[in-house]
Amino acid sequence: MSETTHEYPTGRVPSVRQVMMPRDTNALGTIFGGVILSQIDLAAAIEAHKLHPARVVTVSMDKIEFKAPVYVGDLVSFFTETLRVGRTSVTVHVTVWSQRGFGGGEHAYVTEAEVTMVAVDDDFKPVPILNPPA
Ligand SMILES: CC(C)(COP(=O)(O)OP(=O)(O)OC[C@H]1O[C@@H](n2cnc3c(N)ncnc32)[C@H](O)[C@@H]1OP(=O)(O)O)[C@@H](O)C(=O)NCCC(=O)NCCS
Repeated sequence: MSETTHEYPTGRVPSVRQVMMPRDTNALGTIFGGVILSQIDLAAAIEAHKLHPARVVTVSMDKIEFKAPVYVGDLVSFFTETLRVGRTSVTVHVTVWSQRGFGGGEHAYVTEAEVTMVAVDDDFKPVPILNPPA
């Protein structure tokens, strides 16, 4: 993991930001973990598209620990950073923060993940990253 301190990344622009709605809840009334996982996946794809503005698929997501719950009305931000670029893959670090009260309250660190995306062709076979870093 590239981020070991859990300080809200003021000044960074998240790849995804979403207010959680009642439809996003689990049976307990808090936000369903799968909703957060799906947005982590989306944020990683958006980051990978900076280097490969074409088809990418998720090949792996590392272990995820949820450190704080997310509630209806929270403004959840998914910050991304490219960690590694291979021949056909891009590995992205995603950090998730939830701001209570529709974006007016405290920031809570929720989780982080490493997601590897693979560039693929129309037949879903791996292809080289179009714009790898120089
Ligand atoms: C992604 C996929 C095309 C890769 O096919 P593959 O035959 O494993 O391809 P390769 O072995 O050539 O690996 C391609 C790249 O993925 C990387 N990779 C493969 N498995 C990986 C894993 N478990 N974790 C991290 N990276 C992995 C390889 O290191 C390689 O990266 P590089 O070229 O940058 O070095 C194939 O596994 C696939 O279609 N998976 C399903 C993807 C999908 O549908 N995701 C959504 C699920 S709902």
